Amino acid sequence: MFEKVVAAPADPILGLTDAFRADPRTDKINLGVGIYKDESGATPILRSVKQAEQILLNDEKSKNYLGIEGTAAYGSVVQQLLFGKGAELINSGRVKTAQAPGGTGALRIAAEFVVRNNLSKTVWISDPTWANHVSVFQAAGLEVKWYKYYDPSRKGLDFSAMQASLAEAQAGDLVLLHGCCHNPTGIDPTREQWQALAEQSLAAGWLPLFDFAYQGFARGIEEDAEGLRIFAASHDELLVASSFSKNFGLYNERVGAFTLVSASKAVADVAFTQVKTVIRANYSNPPSHGAAVVTTIVQDEALYAEWVAEVAEMRVRIREMRELLVEKLAALGIAQDFSFIREQNGMFSFSGLDKAQVERLKQEFGIYIVGSGRISVAGITHANIDPLCDAIAKVI
Ligand code: LMR
Repeated sequence: MFEKVVAAPADPILGLTDAFRADPRTDKINLGVGIYKDESGATPILRSVKQAEQILLNDEKSKNYLGIEGTAAYGSVVQQLLFGKGAELINSGRVKTAQAPGGTGALRIAAEFVVRNNLSKTVWISDPTWANHVSVFQAAGLEVKWYKYYDPSRKGLDFSAMQASLAEAQAGDLVLLHGCCHNPTGIDPTREQWQALAEQSLAAGWLPLFDFAYQGFARGIEEDAEGLRIFAASHDELLVASSFSKNFGLYNERVGAFTLVSASKAVADVAFTQVKTVIRANYSNPPSHGAAVVTTIVQDEALYAEWVAEVAEMRVRIREMRELLVEKLAALGIAQDFSFIREQNGMFSFSGLDKAQVERLKQEFGIYIVGSGRISVAGITHANIDPLCDAIAKVI
């Protein structure tokens, strides 16, 4: 029977990692997948994570199943990071959180929860967006519609086009917003634009879904929650899919969360029973380790402070690489202005390189970036930036 199966295309991001691994060239550079690298080119385990793991190694008493939604302590920690310590919203009981296997798992829970309960048939996503969004939402049975986001001529956010295309969204439609560090463009709304979007959403009756995978990579842990908190201040209902892959460096532990905000505690409690049925039918209950690490760190004042400092270290190093990239490309005499790279947030730079240039970078120079022209700046180091810039200069 299996001979009937038709080969699927390689994944646009993780497929690149496979191709990179298979490439025998020793000077190859992987700037495809969003993974932080330090100056030595390693993806380190954070110091705070190592310490938390030591504590868990000593204290863990059982490998018993977790509850379907994970632990209550993890739920509290997630809500603290999203809405701020002691936030009135958390105390009101209107918020419920389930641990999820990564941000992707959280998005899938959100989509299935919405579809199964006939809350919405349509999700609006930004053009462009993370390559996997369409697959996750379509797999859950949602119809995907696109809203305008990026203005290629200005290399910035086309906010009026964004608002105009979202004016087509119907009441109840799911609208996906990137909490910060928009993937792939690195361009986020300003505070005023977040406020305008929240007003538009309220007036139209959208169901906002925040994909929040890079908290801490734009300006800081609290600062990066600005858009989400503006929405949460005015909306009775919203959903959040958050991830700790990047900001805790816990990529392979698959640790994320699905959070539901309701109009009242009573509504949240009932709705959450359906969230649990979605999880039970998918993977029964979550793995423990990554969430236990995050919980241990956030609950411990000293570890928390150390983690905040480590996120800042990553953020600052990426910013330095952005500066250097702009300077070095200019120094090579490239006519094209790359200064927009400075304005982008997070791990990625939407470089403006086209498909043919991306292909040449791979074939001729062993430099892997996503087909959309997205470069993972988090993978640039002092050791690889010169060959990278030389290669970009040659393909332009
Ligand atoms: C990325 O965009 O590179 C990351 O979110 C990793 C992934 O799963 O695609």
